[in-house]
Amino acid sequence: MKENFLWGTATASYQCEGGWNEGGRVPSLWDIFLHKNNLENGNVASDHYHQYKEDIRLMKEGGHNTYRFSLAWPRIIKNLQGEVNQEGINFYHNVIDECLANGIEPFITLFHWDLPQYLEEIGGWASREVVAAFEHYAAIVFKEYGDKVTYWTTFNEPRYYVFSGYKIGNYPPAIDDTQLTIQASFYMMLANAKAVKQYREMGQNGKIGIVHSYSPIFGIDDSLETKIAMRNADNYFNNWILDTAILGEIPVDMLGRLHEKYDLSFMKTDDFKTIKENTVEFVGLNYYARALIRPYSGGETILRINNSGAEGRGTSKVVVKNWFEQVWDPTSEFTEWDTEIYPQGLYEGIMMAYRKYGIPIYITENGIGMYEDITVESIRDEKRIEFLNDHIDAIQRAVEEGADVRGYYIWSTMDLYSWKNGHDKRYGLVAIDFENDCKRKPKASYYWYKQVCESNGKTIERKREYDSNFVSL
Ligand code: BG6
Repeated sequence: MKENFLWGTATASYQCEGGWNEGGRVPSLWDIFLHKNNLENGNVASDHYHQYKEDIRLMKEGGHNTYRFSLAWPRIIKNLQGEVNQEGINFYHNVIDECLANGIEPFITLFHWDLPQYLEEIGGWASREVVAAFEHYAAIVFKEYGDKVTYWTTFNEPRYYVFSGYKIGNYPPAIDDTQLTIQASFYMMLANAKAVKQYREMGQNGKIGIVHSYSPIFGIDDSLETKIAMRNADNYFNNWILDTAILGEIPVDMLGRLHEKYDLSFMKTDDFKTIKENTVEFVGLNYYARALIRPYSGGETILRINNSGAEGRGTSKVVVKNWFEQVWDPTSEFTEWDTEIYPQGLYEGIMMAYRKYGIPIYITENGIGMYEDITVESIRDEKRIEFLNDHIDAIQRAVEEGADVRGYYIWSTMDLYSWKNGHDKRYGLVAIDFENDCKRKPKASYYWYKQVCESNGKTIERKREYDSNFVSL
């Protein structure tokens, strides 16, 4: 990799911090939703709120030079009036200072899904008022931390958040409403543009981008029907985030189709102008799997996600009526949560994104969720090592072909709370004993990754042949 390549790991506030009612933090929509429905929650999570120094020490010893994490909006802004919680502000000063003192570059996300509940109560992301509240929050944190932090991203995975909450209904606010899905999507992208504008107007010296849940699109063949389905799928999965944030243009063919059935009058001329004029300068791509697409063959829309691991294996299904269907290649390998293991998708996805957008790329999440016995003396997570090796190799292949990739973050730094999958789905390089004061224990992958970071990727082995069985965009 190039000099100064960023090698690190990633977390999100609600998933690792815990301390849900400490330090003046107010509830997020996740606290309320999970408590009310008696579901596994992140009250304690990985206890990063109390053990962040230990975590940052482990990062340093593990050879990392960066850490991607998010700020919890409910720790920073107390109420609808926008009052600031000084204790929350101080907490993140401490985390950032600890990173800098250890040679770890902070890479900060403003919103990784923990919306303050008081904003959910006025309509959440489907309401325009939340855009103004986000601008206020962003201005506070840019002013506080702007001189210490170079890398900022506005949102983590708007698509995943909005679809899970407003269409699939497995995340709060847990509804199925296409009109509100469109509204929330649009307002998030507008809030992204407004935060970018503000960052620049405040004369900040760093870089600002957005993080997207990237599903590179592949087709089962190259027929016209498949090509059309692939375009629809690309709009659904990727373009409405990437085209909007990077090019400042919401795909017009998608808007045209939505306009036939839904009310888009809430989108104002000034909004389009703001979006056009305030685009991001880099993009973070989270890669877990590609999306293999075939033409729509009939029936209602089905969006089914396996949140129960081995028990629910093979139950994932995505059909978007009149748009496309997703298929799972039976010859491929999958995790217990139905995520395909397909490193080639990362290589091709980077090439597609780089050819189309030409801006710097950071792989802001990549990793594998597994059941693991962490009570053993040494945790030998060979499967994770193989997975990471093959994905870093995929990035190196793209870099060799000219793609401008500048950083890589493994999801996740330590085991953490995996939203609706609870704590059993472990992603960390460091094990957390959730039953035992969240004690930390590095896994074999942690030591393996140390060598990768310290050699700047030279210890990665090229083990896979790539196939050409499917058509990419
Ligand atoms: C990404 C999110 O979608 O994937 C993370 O940014 C999330 O917050 C990660 O945890 C893995 O997904 P899951 O559902 O397995 O936790």
